[in-house]
Amino acid sequence: MKLGGPVSGSFRVKSGDKLRAGGAILLLVCAVLAPIALSQALTSPASDHDQPPPPRAYAGDAACAKCHRKEAAAYEHTPHARDSSLPSAESILGSFQPGKNVLHTLDPNLVINMVAAPGSFYQSAVNLANPAEHLAERFDIVIGTGRHGQSYLYWDNDQLYQLPASYFTANHEWIISPSFPADKIMFDRPITPRCLECHTSYFTWIDTNQIDTNHFEKSSLVFGINCERCHGPGAAHVARESTSTKPEQAKSRLVADHTIVNPARLDRDRQLDLCSLCHAGAVDPLRPSLTFRVGDNIRDFLAIKAATPGETVDVHGNQAGALELSKCFTSSKMTCSSCHNVHEGPGVAASYSHYCLECHQMRTCGKYASLGEKIRSKCVDCHMPIQESGQVVSFAAGHAVNASFRTHQIAIYDEASKHVEQSLAGK
Ligand code: HEC
Ligand code: HEC
Ligand code: HEC
Ligand code: HEC
Ligand code: HEC
Ligand code: HEC
Ligand code: HEC
Repeated sequence: MKLGGPVSGSFRVKSGDKLRAGGAILLLVCAVLAPIALSQALTSPASDHDQPPPPRAYAGDAACAKCHRKEAAAYEHTPHARDSSLPSAESILGSFQPGKNVLHTLDPNLVINMVAAPGSFYQSAVNLANPAEHLAERFDIVIGTGRHGQSYLYWDNDQLYQLPASYFTANHEWIISPSFPADKIMFDRPITPRCLECHTSYFTWIDTNQIDTNHFEKSSLVFGINCERCHGPGAAHVARESTSTKPEQAKSRLVADHTIVNPARLDRDRQLDLCSLCHAGAVDPLRPSLTFRVGDNIRDFLAIKAATPGETVDVHGNQAGALELSKCFTSSKMTCSSCHNVHEGPGVAASYSHYCLECHQMRTCGKYASLGEKIRSKCVDCHMPIQESGQVVSFAAGHAVNASFRTHQIAIYDEASKHVEQSLAGK
């Protein structure tokens, strides 16, 4: 099969420099990209926060690991650290095996073949009614570890686009990339800085005041979410600690190290703001990507609205908004760290009961009287059930595909509770 080839009348292809306004850009299990008006330039008051820090402000994870071995060793294996990567037979989870490597659209003539060539992988679109019409683009970047799914990006010179096929883990199948039309094949969905801000650690782009650009400096991309995304640029900290006291002596010194941020020292709102940079769902950016620094007020950077009681927050991508609607949150000092140690990554659902029981006594649960000890490891099954995202996420082989997420609105869910109760009674 010939890869590349003539631009086809059947596919939507990129049109030179001009970005296509495709409406809201939604994503695989991740409708969190702001529905921004394309061609919009940002106007924000002048401050040192208007521009992303330069590359030299950062030290990189290898430097941090030299002194913080415990955090670094565990962190390496987390979904954050591995969230984006270069393509390889291991990193791409979808199958290239014959029989499993074809994605059909709702138009019976339009199909996408997944092709593994030595050292490269391609999505090859063909119009079966006219096989002369075909177009292939390479997998250049993998987004997502695949807890729910993966999407893939390709370069056209210095422009970044999303590929038309994504991968959906629950069914182990290729799907049309979420929010792409189900009966067409699109190669023209641009990738904006905001997408990379949530899924990578660093990148430079041509005009930093432009939120809608998809021109990047290819070699500037740093994959994964690294230490400095949450602790701030660390080159000054590394320089300071390398020339000063040893870690064991540092504990007793009087002058704190202000060259690095420990989120635990921030007040509760600023701690949440760090996570909200990426976990507050679809919101419009107010300033260029990568300008938010841990310790800043996120509302100066993103147009996040306060969650209003009674409102239903889609389970999808907005853990911060959902949590804020919970009585647990409004009646305590709870932060994301009350249940998550981001250096260690996910635990199994049952392990989270332990965190609930730090604030609650089991017998205060209305179900304790009838179910007793059986509820001990089941708190989240009833009070934070897994729910389907309200959006139809995508299509594959003609059927709709919905992703499910753990809600962060901790509450009493009668339906979910009945279900768990029945399964507990059956045991
Ligand atoms: C040369 C050794 C060294 C390197 C390299 C290093 N650190 Fe540190 N770091 C230290 C020492 C020493 C402390 C102080 C420990 C203390 O006070 O308990 C510290 C403290 C910290 C703290 C806690 C600060 C606080 O206020 O509690 C964080 C967070 C941190 N480092 C992150 C990083 C990150 C991220 C990197 C990589 C960019 C990094 N460190 C690189 C030695 C180092
Ligand atoms: C506001 C930040 C944000 C933006 C913008 C964003 N994402 Fe996400 N994305 C997330 C978060 C957070 C998750 C994890 C959601 C969860 O598990 O509940 C995620 C999950 C995903 C996943 C599934 C990962 C997995 O391992 O299951 C894919 C694929 C993905 N995003 C692709 C994209 C693409 C492609 C773009 C840009 C076109 C994008 N996202 C834009 C924050 C974002
Ligand atoms: C997703 C965000 C995130 C990432 C990425 C991250 N950290 Fe942290 N880190 C935190 C938070 C939040 C805390 C405060 C935890 C708490 O509340 O106790 C913290 C605390 C720390 C501390 C202080 C620990 C202490 O006991 O006082 C060190 C040191 C540290 N991180 C190092 C690292 C290093 C090294 C990396 C990269 C290998 C890293 N972190 C990656 C969010 C992050
Ligand atoms: C730079 C963007 C970014 C920031 C900042 C960030 N996250 Fe994430 N987070 C993501 C993305 C993207 C994923 C999906 C990773 C994947 O599976 O590919 C994710 C996944 C997660 C997960 C599910 C996987 C796991 O490790 O259990 C948790 C929990 C989580 N984040 C918590 C946090 C908390 C708590 C904070 C704040 C201390 C935070 N995140 C800060 C982007 C971010
Ligand atoms: C940081 C402390 C804290 C943690 C951790 C915590 N909660 Fe709560 N929770 C509270 C407080 C305070 C209230 C309000 C007072 C009350 O009802 O006891 C509350 C209320 C509730 C309610 C009543 C909700 C309503 O709408 O009436 C439920 C159910 C609940 N929590 C379950 C849980 C579960 C399950 C977990 C673990 C996933 C958990 N909580 C973790 C502090 C916490
Ligand atoms: C009361 C405990 C609790 C708090 C507080 C909490 N989480 Fe979670 N989180 C959980 C549980 C339980 C899961 C599901 C783990 C599982 O299913 O294995 C989870 C899962 C997640 C996931 C993966 C969701 C999915 O379905 O893919 C993300 C992302 C996440 N949390 C982010 C956050 C962020 C950001 C905050 C703060 C705004 C936060 N969490 C606060 C308990 C909590
Ligand atoms: C089988 C489902 C189920 C499990 C498992 C479960 N709960 Fe509940 N819980 C409920 C229901 C239903 C209610 C409301 C009961 C009522 O109104 O009589 C409730 C009520 C509560 C309340 C609110 C009490 C009040 O009066 O405000 C708290 C707090 C709570 N549960 C905590 C927990 C904790 C902590 C765990 C884990 C140890 C847990 N629950 C496990 C179903 C469950």
